[in-house]
Amino acid sequence: MRVNSLNRTISFGTTSRLYKTKSGDDMGCNSWLFRNDIDWNKLAKYEIEHFKDKDKVNIVMFAASDGSEAYTKIISLHENCTGRSRDAVAKFFPIKAYDTDSEILKAAKSGRINSFMHDRIELDLHCKNYEDYFTESKNGLIIPNDKDCHTSQPLFAKKILTENVDFSYGDMFEKVYEIKDDSNTIVMCRNILGYFWIQEIEKFLQAVSKALKPESLFVIGNHDFVLYNIKEYVERYCFREVMKNVFKKI
Ligand SMILES: C[S@@+](CC[C@H](N)C(=O)[O-])C[C@H]1O[C@@H](n2cnc3c(N)ncnc32)[C@H](O)[C@@H]1O
Repeated sequence: MRVNSLNRTISFGTTSRLYKTKSGDDMGCNSWLFRNDIDWNKLAKYEIEHFKDKDKVNIVMFAASDGSEAYTKIISLHENCTGRSRDAVAKFFPIKAYDTDSEILKAAKSGRINSFMHDRIELDLHCKNYEDYFTESKNGLIIPNDKDCHTSQPLFAKKILTENVDFSYGDMFEKVYEIKDDSNTIVMCRNILGYFWIQEIEKFLQAVSKALKPESLFVIGNHDFVLYNIKEYVERYCFREVMKNVFKKI
């Protein structure tokens, strides 16, 4: 692990919690709805088509933070199964979402997220009606060491979101060995690899590569590129980029 000086506090994310890990390194939980380092609509359409012959698709989400990313995934799959019943995407759920921070897990399990104007705009852009997914929450969500949460507009996730994701404690460096794949898995590990030195990144990539069979997907984020050209490393472990930050096991 390394100390990450690039971990800026953002003013529009659903969380900007900062904390120290057990080993004393700085860690940020920064996350937000429809984080724009992925084309979420394109990815959802790709996944629906790519896994059309599979009865079940497993989404494993490491570093899930406050739930914004899992909610983004659920919404984008629902919004992109046009012409089909929403049951068509039921096979992608529940998402297995892991994080190692007990405070952010508490926030995720509460079903509430804080939101700012940016999150509202992204919701409007990506949903026909955001009220299909959220209600306005009267109770604020206070996340320790999150300096912006007092000024947010909290949203309460509806069952369509909360019933389709399980949040639990899990260290990606351990949980990766539990993945059981039948060419029907999507591993999301976004905006966390950038916090580690290359030796740890490679160890993780080797394990993901071993766990995933051809056609399964591995998804990263822009923050993973802060020190290294992570795409080159991912491709060394038998993955091919199919769209920005999305790789297919070959
Ligand atoms: C910057 S956030 C990324 C959130 C989200 N994936 C996104 O892209 O918006 C990083 C998250 O990783 C979590 N984390 C740190 N080390 C971890 C580990 N070894 N396994 C799983 N999660 C971890 C942190 O607690 C934090 O919530």
